[in-house]
Amino acid sequence: MGERIRELISEADVAKRIAEMGAQISKDYEGEDVYLLCILKGGVFFTTELAKHITVPVTIDFMSVSSYGSETTSSGIVRIVKDLDTPIEGKNVLIAEDIVDTGRTLAYLMEHLKQRKPKSLKLCTLLDKPDRRVSDVHVDYTGFEIPDEFVVGYGLDYDQRYRNLPYVGVIEFD
Ligand code: IMP
Ligand code: MG
Repeated sequence: MGERIRELISEADVAKRIAEMGAQISKDYEGEDVYLLCILKGGVFFTTELAKHITVPVTIDFMSVSSYGSETTSSGIVRIVKDLDTPIEGKNVLIAEDIVDTGRTLAYLMEHLKQRKPKSLKLCTLLDKPDRRVSDVHVDYTGFEIPDEFVVGYGLDYDQRYRNLPYVGVIEFD
């Protein structure tokens, strides 16, 4: 079976938008520190690019979660595969995620992290598929809203491949 990638958001547009998001975040967190929490693996490319555009002090940490359920429908029950290195109590935690789809993973994770008493907890995502939302999760910063199509690139995978594409594309099969 052949696969083709149709470009949806160009490399230049992704870069431009992330720079804008970084500028907005820098403004909103003026005088504060940001604890940037990258959700592995998909959030890696977005996190590193975003961090380069944040001008307030930034600490980066990583968390890996796995959602029970099939590849295409997350169950909302999340298992922490790799936890944070340090306590987040009193910190301004900003989650950086590749995509919010049903919202189940993030809704669960944010509830969990709130119990650790951060000073603030916000969510930024490169991509958002609002049509697919089933869990009520508030996104503070969105890069792009996209239609309900399966996308790859810029961290997003299909069966662990295509994460390294410098743009976001829709995967098509023939
Ligand atoms: P949610 O709990 O349904 O919001 O699941 C979000 C997760 O599903 C993301 O972190 C991605 O790993 C994965 N996902 C959702 N949509 C896509 C897509 O279009 N391409 C690649 N991965 C996706
Ligand atoms: Mg993922």
